Amino acid sequence: MAELQMRADLEVGVARMDAVHAEFVNCYNALAQAPESGFVAALDDFIAHCESHFAMENEWMATTAFPGCHRAEHDRVLQVMRDIRARAQRGDFALGRQLVREIPEWFETHATGMDAALAYFLNSIGFDAQTGRPPEGWKPAGEDADAGEKPRCT
Ligand SMILES: [Fe+2]
Ligand SMILES: [Fe+2]
Repeated sequence: MAELQMRADLEVGVARMDAVHAEFVNCYNALAQAPESGFVAALDDFIAHCESHFAMENEWMATTAFPGCHRAEHDRVLQVMRDIRARAQRGDFALGRQLVREIPEWFETHATGMDAALAYFLNSIGFDAQTGRPPEGWKPAGEDADAGEKPRCT
């Protein structure tokens, strides 16, 4: 079954995010290696990891008024996983196997795209990922300020 490795080119430069991504890789590998009898339990662990992982990034984006559709992407992926979990619970593992095949590519794209962009921004403002706080006195840019290129949600 597919195995994912935490590689240097997947690191985003925010130590706490990189550590959580290493946990993602470990949870994914446990899911990929789970026998059918343990698939739902492994998927529950993986979903629990993703809920806290995505909530951490969502919180940072909310705190810093970071624009874009990163949060919507997290929500979409969690919804797909929960739907697949319900199917696996009923004995239908086809989409579960497809999920396992597709997660490595999704994660590599997400980590090097949306997560890397967020990490770059957080580092640029001196955000403290340990406390989840921006520097004292830092304020988000006003709505009329040019915040640069904003990704479109599709
Ligand atoms: Fe992430
Ligand atoms: Fe993310």
